[in-house]
Order: sequence, then structure tokens, then C-alpha cells
Amino acid sequence: MKPILGVGALLNLGATVKGLVSSRADWPNGPLVTSGRWIHDASGNNVTYAGTNWPGHTDVMIPEGLQYQSIETIVQKVKSLGMNAVRLTFAIQMIDEIYANNGKDITLERAFVQALGQTNGIKVLNQVLANNPQFNTSTTRLQVFDAVAAELNKQQIYIHLDNHISKGMWCCSSTDGNSWWGDTYFSTENWVRGLSYMAEHGKSWPALTSIGLRNEPREPTSNPALAQSSYNWQSWYRYMRQGADAVHGANPDLLIFLSGLNFDTYLTPVVRGEPLAPGTDRFDVADFAAGPAGKLVLELHNYETGATSCDALRANLDRNGFEALLSPDDAVANVLPVVMTEFGFQMDDRTWRGVYASCLAQYLPERKAGWTIWVLAGSYYVRSGTQDYDEGWGLLNHDWSDWRSPGYVDGALKAMVRETLS
Ligand SMILES: *[C@@H]1O[C@H](CO)[C@@H](O)[C@H](O)[C@H]1NC(C)=O
Ligand SMILES: *[C@@H]1O[C@H](CO)[C@@H](O)[C@H](O)[C@H]1NC(C)=O
Repeated sequence: MKPILGVGALLNLGATVKGLVSSRADWPNGPLVTSGRWIHDASGNNVTYAGTNWPGHTDVMIPEGLQYQSIETIVQKVKSLGMNAVRLTFAIQMIDEIYANNGKDITLERAFVQALGQTNGIKVLNQVLANNPQFNTSTTRLQVFDAVAAELNKQQIYIHLDNHISKGMWCCSSTDGNSWWGDTYFSTENWVRGLSYMAEHGKSWPALTSIGLRNEPREPTSNPALAQSSYNWQSWYRYMRQGADAVHGANPDLLIFLSGLNFDTYLTPVVRGEPLAPGTDRFDVADFAAGPAGKLVLELHNYETGATSCDALRANLDRNGFEALLSPDDAVANVLPVVMTEFGFQMDDRTWRGVYASCLAQYLPERKAGWTIWVLAGSYYVRSGTQDYDEGWGLLNHDWSDWRSPGYVDGALKAMVRETLS
């Protein structure tokens, strides 16, 4: 029987068209792109990150917390705050070891024993496997990252991948050998290779929307000759272009985040278009392969935890680079999105009420700046030689089962997320 195009068919046609439109706009609706000071999705909607840091760069070089909870449970915690982003950190050493191992990442068994010793390594590995039964002793570190990325995608949380350090360990000091290009563990060549590798690998992570080239560039104070010859904005510019061009070549979809000097606390000459000393060149997005494609974002950290005046802190933040969000503003030459990818403080029942935390809780949503708070953790596999290190700044308690400061979470953090995303 020849079907007649009746009302029912028209309704179906309508449903099909609607289906097509909404599937095109399926989360994450990337690739993300910048437009002036905003980040947009593929439909032109503003996207602002409100999230947290999940460290995966310390000695074991896999995301923390899995000896206490499943990946799914940890991601649910993030989701329950209303957050939409995770800054997932990794170490270049992981990629170096993949290359040294004929292209295959090392197993969890080897990674845990290498970092924690034979007895404790196996003990903690068994706890990880008990909580995350999809893994086994020969699962690789990269497969753990893949599983974390898959779960974040499932729960619709953007992934901002961050190269936190070269040698897998707690970060950051100016004497840790990871401070600046050319420092003891910080090979520029391996860094470029590692960024390219992860940008390419990340094509299989649908939730991956951006990458940070390097966490907290800082003066290599234990290497005065290096500090003297290259710790400056001119060299910074050369390295940023090198890293960004490598990432863009490997994966042109990603937003690329640039960190400033002195532990990523300021980007003033970049935002103001001042000469990049000791040279005379000025920052220009057109100098980057990714620039004209609208892929560059600035990131800053702030740990002025002793602040006594919110007005003074706000003025510092604007001058450090957040003024790029205030355009048109006479001081600003380069209008770009600025994200505070780290801030944090002691998770007790009163610090969050202090000047620093309450000022940021107001300032960041007001500026509609993205942010990721340090840190999604309760404890680390190992930090600076101490195994099962308790993280007093962690959002979670020691076994990652509940909030460390429920007063902060209910009294301020959830509202900060809501106001940022509203
Ligand atoms: C982005 O947000 C700003 C501030 O709320 C608004 O003025 C602008 O129109 C938004 N852009 C889009 C594309 O929604
Ligand atoms: C171990 O887990 C990985 C994924 O994490 C999987 O690819 C592999 O097949 C598993 N091996 C065994 C022996 O079950």
C-alpha cells in the first residue's frame, strides 16, 4: 500500500529534523573556539569552565584516588557540585617511558612498584583493582587515563588536559629541576614530543576540549646560568609558540592554554601588548599556527591566601591579566579568554570565609572567568616521599568518600559554580 503523507508522517518528519538538529548539538558540541574574551561551542554558545584539578602527574603517573574509590564515584562527586570541567594533569615522563618501551605504556604493576616499592606498590595496586575491577595488573597508565576520559565524557564534563611537570613528582618549586625549559628534567624536545603525543592520543577522548602547554613556568633558581640566559618573556614566547604549534599540528580542535611567568601568576606584558623583554617583539596571536583559528586562551594561578583586602586582590588580578576580560579597556591590547586554572586553600571550617576565598568566590563569577580549583583529592599515592599523604587542601577527605569541608561546599562552592555558569 502506497503510504499517504498524512499528519502522522509530517509529525515524524518534524521529529527527524529535530533529531538531526539536536544530535548535531550533542554535548560537548565542540570543537570549542575563542571569540574575543569568550569561549564558544560549535553553536556559538558561551562555554565557561567551572571545575577542579584532578592530579595525574605525581610519581605513579595515573589519576589519584583510585585506591579508595572508583573512577565513576569520583566523577559523580565532581558532577554533584554542578561543575562542568576537570583539569587533568600528566607528566612528560609517562610519554618518555612509552617511547622507551617501544611505543607501549608500562603496566600499572610496574608503575606502582616503581613509585611505592615492591610491597606497598602491590598492596596499593590491589586496592586500585578492587575499586576499579575493569583494570588488571597489565592495564597501562594510559588506559587508566582513557577510562577517566571515558567516564568524564559519560557524565558530560569537559576535559582540560594539563602538562603539569616533566619528571613525575609533586610540583612545583623553583629548585625541582622542572622549572624552565632546559632545567635538569625539562627537555624542550621531550616536552614537544609529549604534548604532540597526548594531543594526538586525545582525539579518542570526545570530552577533551583543551590543553595547557605547561604548568607554572618559573625561575630555575638552582641553575643561575639558565635563569640568566633564558628566564624571560622573549624565551617564553619562543617556547609557547613551539609547544602550541606542535599541539595544533597534532590536533587542531584543541584550545591551547598559555601560562605566565613566576609560577603562572602574571601575563601582564602579553595582555598589554608590551615588548617581550629583553626583545622587542610583542605578543600577536597571528604568530601562532593556532592563533587565527581562535584557539588561544590565557591561564593564571593565584595563591595570595594571606590577602587582607579584596579590593587589593581584585586590582592585582586585573593587572596580572584578568583585565583582558574587561575590554574595551585602554590597557588591553590582546583580548583573549582568561581562566584561573588554580587557586585553593586549607579545607577546614573557617578558611573559606576569609578574604582570599570569599573574594575569589565573588570575583571569578562576576568576571565570568573560567576556573578550576586546586584540588580534587583527599590523599595522594605518594607526595614528596610520603606515601598515602593526606591533602589538607583537598576537596575530599582522606579516603575520597566525602567532602573535607562540607561547610565550604554547601556554603560557597556550589553557589560559585552556579553563578559562574548562569
Ligand atoms: C556570552 O555571555 C555574555 C555575558 O553574559 C553575553 O553578553 C553574550 O551575549 C554571551 N554570548 C553568547 C553568544 O551567548
Ligand atoms: C586488562 O585490562 C585492560 C584494560 O584496562 C584490557 O585491555 C586487557 O585485555 C585486560 N587483560 C586481561 C588479561 O584481562
